[in-house]
Amino acid sequence: MTTETGKTATLAVEGQSFELPIYDGAVGPSVIDVRPLYKHTGHFTYDPGFTSTAACDSSITYIDGDKGELLYRGYPIDQLAEDSHFLEVCYLLLYGDLPNKELLEDFKSRVTNHTMLHEQMTNFYRGFRRDAHPMAIVTGVVGALSAFYHDSTDIRDPMQRQVASIRMIAKMPTIAAWAYKYSIGQPFVYPRNDLSYAANFMHMCFSVPTEDYKVDPIMAEAMDRIFTLHADHEQNASTSTVRLAGSSNANPFACIAAGVACLWGPAHGGANEAALNMLKEIGDVSRIPEYIARAKDKDDPFRLMGFGHRVYKSYDPRAKVMQQSAKEVLELVGVENDPILKVAQELEKIALEDEYFVKRNLYPNVDFYSGIVLSAMGFPTSMFTAIFALARTVGWIAQWKEMIEDPDQRIGRPRQLYTGEPMRDYVPVEKR
Ligand code: SDX
Repeated sequence: MTTETGKTATLAVEGQSFELPIYDGAVGPSVIDVRPLYKHTGHFTYDPGFTSTAACDSSITYIDGDKGELLYRGYPIDQLAEDSHFLEVCYLLLYGDLPNKELLEDFKSRVTNHTMLHEQMTNFYRGFRRDAHPMAIVTGVVGALSAFYHDSTDIRDPMQRQVASIRMIAKMPTIAAWAYKYSIGQPFVYPRNDLSYAANFMHMCFSVPTEDYKVDPIMAEAMDRIFTLHADHEQNASTSTVRLAGSSNANPFACIAAGVACLWGPAHGGANEAALNMLKEIGDVSRIPEYIARAKDKDDPFRLMGFGHRVYKSYDPRAKVMQQSAKEVLELVGVENDPILKVAQELEKIALEDEYFVKRNLYPNVDFYSGIVLSAMGFPTSMFTAIFALARTVGWIAQWKEMIEDPDQRIGRPRQLYTGEPMRDYVPVEKR
């Protein structure tokens, strides 16, 4: 909800000046409405990467990159990570307020009763090579949901939107867990209604038919916290992908599959996998200076994975909570002296003192420690981004729902600065 301010920005173009309206949000930067720009001036704005562009208004998540603040519907992420749990955070992101006991129990029951996949969907997994990356499988299977759940693809029907939202949140753990089981040649484990959301996911990943498997409550708590930390993050690349796909009125499953595909990139959600692989490659604190030098070298494409952020120009608040989780989980599994953690802690210390990183506000982000925690839990690095996608599904769905329910919503269609050939006539091949 933007607030008309009566304020305007004056723009002078080729001797003419124009007044562009300024709107205030609830908190954070105000915006200049450039929608009339092309009509008045024949010019487009130019903002590759959208570093200064608000693509929408939203009331779901707020980030203050300078203060290192992250709020879900106004609640600080560190309070939610400490005092709430993931399904309650899902309700908050979807509906805007914390639920009372009755609403929470009803929501939990609806999610719990949608965790199974249509049995025929197991056939999709068998079409993939065993060594397929879990994100390739998750992208494919999520897109295939629209081939099975036709009764929740009509985006104009509020009930169908509601059912599709619950189905996505409920089925992602099963989809991701089965991608893992398939990759290690073990049988699929079905979801169980007597387990919490996080414990259910870990049970589907780590239990085998030959013996009982009890999820360690500390591990389940850490897993739940990881889901909460990754749940939403304003208009990041994958969320913007979901919104753009949704703006064409594509069905929700197709939109989420587009978000999964975008998240896979190592510059985005793939950074947790890339960060742990980097820490393993460094291997020992003695080799850190070599990698710091490479990260600074403009001729070297290497970047310090898990560092830097488009918005956070101070510490990513999620990284702080994740660092605490890393210590708890590593103590639990008795590897508090894990050499990889030592490399991570030393790398963080050096980077936070090094002028190159300090000047560019390059701090550890959420992906820096998450790989260490997930690895200590027993997940292979190839599963890290699939877990990120599992957690981010509620954010994608909440943002998609907000966009679809926005009466001003229209198809997203950016323009360009054309730098190609002016019009020219076709030349027959014999004359070229
Ligand atoms: C996520 O958007 C979100 O909210 C994303 C996310 C979410 O929850 O959805 O928070 C999740 O994607 C976190 C980010 C995970 N990615 C990584 O950890 C990959 C490594 N980080 C970089 O690729 C980079 O920092 C980005 C992509 C995160 C941000 O890139 P920007 O904002 O486009 O910054 P930039 O590339 O313009 O860099 C500015 C300067 C450049 O140097 P100069 O040209 O000014 O000399 O900083 C340098 C960059 O070379 N730089 C780095 C660096 N990141 C930026 N140098 C070394 N190592 C790095 N990691």
